[in-house]
Amino acid sequence: MSDTSARRLTTGPWSAVTLPVALLRDGYLFWEGRRRRTGGETVQARLLTERATAVRGADAAHFFYGDFFDGERATERSSALPMTQVGALFGRGPVHTLDGAQHAHRKAVFNGLLGAEAARDVTTGLAARWDERAPRWSGAVDVFDEIGPMLLEVGCDWAGIPLADDEIAGRTRDMLAMVDGFGAPSGRQLRARRARRRTDAWSQALVEESRRSPADAGPPRPLDVVARHRDEHGRLLPAHTAAVEVVNLIRPLVAVSWLVAGLFEALDVHPRTRDDVLAERVSTTNVAQEVRRTYPFVPFLAARATRDLSWDGVAIPAGTLVVLDVWGTNHDPRIWRDPDAFDPSRFQRTPVTPYNLVPQGGGSREGGHRCPGEDVTLAVLGTLVDRVAALRYRVVGPRAQLRRMPPRPRLLVHAGR
Ligand code: HEM
Repeated sequence: MSDTSARRLTTGPWSAVTLPVALLRDGYLFWEGRRRRTGGETVQARLLTERATAVRGADAAHFFYGDFFDGERATERSSALPMTQVGALFGRGPVHTLDGAQHAHRKAVFNGLLGAEAARDVTTGLAARWDERAPRWSGAVDVFDEIGPMLLEVGCDWAGIPLADDEIAGRTRDMLAMVDGFGAPSGRQLRARRARRRTDAWSQALVEESRRSPADAGPPRPLDVVARHRDEHGRLLPAHTAAVEVVNLIRPLVAVSWLVAGLFEALDVHPRTRDDVLAERVSTTNVAQEVRRTYPFVPFLAARATRDLSWDGVAIPAGTLVVLDVWGTNHDPRIWRDPDAFDPSRFQRTPVTPYNLVPQGGGSREGGHRCPGEDVTLAVLGTLVDRVAALRYRVVGPRAQLRRMPPRPRLLVHAGR
């Protein structure tokens, strides 16, 4: 980081921003509410100790991700993440919080692992499990209780992580709890931290075991690739950091449960789309994209300006936060006509670009922080669109609310005749 003023506002890894009451009250609509009140596109707010400027839209996403000055980045991630809120979600020292060469080096591991082969392994295992289990569902079924374990199992199979049958329920609960705690008041946050401690301890034992086993004992599993990864100076990562990154292979995959819940909700509320899927009148990829666009999951992303910036005529002083309103961009009427409608055919009119649809971040996954798991996520949803459409069910609650971040990890459907 070039500008020391940028660090003034943080005092330690777990002590940056605590979310304000208004954010907890308004949830995904927090920035939209401010835009309505001020009449401006770019809005500023204090997130307790921090000054934040929120931008939205495709050009704004380009600004957020492509903000170079004289070849140097004008923002950084390392001091921007509010660890009091997201520490349990990401753990300590993950790739999300790195900048520059350190980030590029670590990110390459994820990009290398999460390619077409991973998508194939995960979806093959998922389809087999769904086809065996879903026909037996009857009566009240909690989507998270069913999908979460399937995703954990296929994730561990793919990554080469041993998983005993009696571990599945508890580990799935912990993965979901770590995600459920972000941006939440104390109860959920405490549960998330306990889940994080248990999961990191489990993962660290896996890392140590992988490091002890002979390197030529067969092709390295994704677990081994991460466990034995060396940093840009050729040093093994601290075991705890490697453990956090192993969890970063599995926890977000289990979190795709939220989007699967969104798929169940969408096809229940929009029976015409369901009919279109069954009659093959709509592309399953477009249905998956529309679920990612409309389901409230990631609210916004933050970076810290390391020099004075300005966007849309609004000054963003060095040391303050630049926020990309993810929800606002995915619902920006300048990009998406009738943005609140669920309409998979909109992607025929408006093709996806690196900056207009940002549920998993924007820009380039090689050069920036964009999610490396996006193809796997789309493959999972694409595998399930037909299957959910073919299932007889109706949603009996509770549906996703825009105020709760993230939506409650519970969706009850009544399955069967
Ligand atoms: C529900 C599905 C998912 C959502 C909504 C999601 C969302 C995101 C978002 C918003 C980011 C940050 C982008 C940024 O800061 O610019 C991110 C980064 C990341 N995601 Fe995902 N993700 C999902 C699935 C996955 C999967 C399946 C994996 C791996 C198996 C994964 C691994 C990661 C990693 C390692 C990063 C850090 C990338 C970096 O900082 O360079 N995600 N994800």
